[in-house]
Amino acid sequence: MTSDRPVVIITGASRGIGAACARALSPKANLVLAARSDLVLESTANECSAQGAQVKTVVGDVARNETACALADRAQEAFGRIDAVIANAGILTPFGSLESCDAQAIEYALAVNIVGPTLLARATLPALRASKGRLINVSSGAGNGVIRGWATYCAAKAALNHLTRVIAADVPEVTAIAFSPGMTDTDMQAQIRDQGDKGMPSEELSFFQRTYAEGGLRDADEVGKGLAALALFAKKEWSGEYIDIADPRIAALG
Ligand SMILES: NC(=O)c1ccc[n+]([C@@H]2O[C@H](COP(=O)([O-])OP(=O)(O)OC[C@H]3O[C@@H](n4cnc5c(N)ncnc54)[C@H](OP(=O)(O)O)[C@@H]3O)[C@@H](O)[C@H]2O)c1
Repeated sequence: MTSDRPVVIITGASRGIGAACARALSPKANLVLAARSDLVLESTANECSAQGAQVKTVVGDVARNETACALADRAQEAFGRIDAVIANAGILTPFGSLESCDAQAIEYALAVNIVGPTLLARATLPALRASKGRLINVSSGAGNGVIRGWATYCAAKAALNHLTRVIAADVPEVTAIAFSPGMTDTDMQAQIRDQGDKGMPSEELSFFQRTYAEGGLRDADEVGKGLAALALFAKKEWSGEYIDIADPRIAALG
């Protein structure tokens, strides 16, 4: 079916920031959504369809190249183009100093948080080049700062920031941005509060618990709207940048 709507791929779209972004885009875009939990993903897809989007889903693990290729193929088969890709899926664990972490858990976290976005960029760049589209890699303040007990996550997000810079230089047709959501009220923050004692120093853990208790987390829908605005309207001259949700340029996109 043909449509003038932009086509946006979002990973990690079953819940949290990814689902909020999908809902924010659904009145304006057609969507290809991915996550591992089929029923929860279907529920997000149904909400988006109800708001007018044509929606396709891919159930799969972003750590696998098959998922990246399936997302690119599904978008092309259904819509014949890709205008934006949002590599949002991510995991925090394992917590703890490296020598205390399970080796397979470290390998998996790196696969999800940096190998997956790299493979997704590889699979979708030809279509993004053709559409002069946007690639938004969802990063974190942890990619710039040091959070004790989060070595694998911090390293993966730092690598994601640099991957974004190199893609921006390699592929000038595409606007590539690393987006930092800030501390957002999702399952990921709940996991820090519930499981952070298994490896995070108490000062760091208290900071996250206090921020939550004081109402300092961002609302996922607000963050999802900002991410959606970047995917549709980020300016070419921003390519390669790391952009935080609090950056006034996002609010100015409307
Ligand atoms: N929340 C924050 O405070 C915060 C702060 C900075 C950065 N971030 C970043 O923002 C992004 C979204 O975080 P969130 O807070 O929305 O997390 P969340 O609530 O835990 O949701 C994570 C999403 O990613 C999906 N996902 C996780 N592992 C996956 C895998 N291996 N394959 C496919 N999908 C996978 C999950 O779905 P399934 O479980 O169904 O697969 C879910 O849809 C992440 O990249 C995170 O690092 C979050």
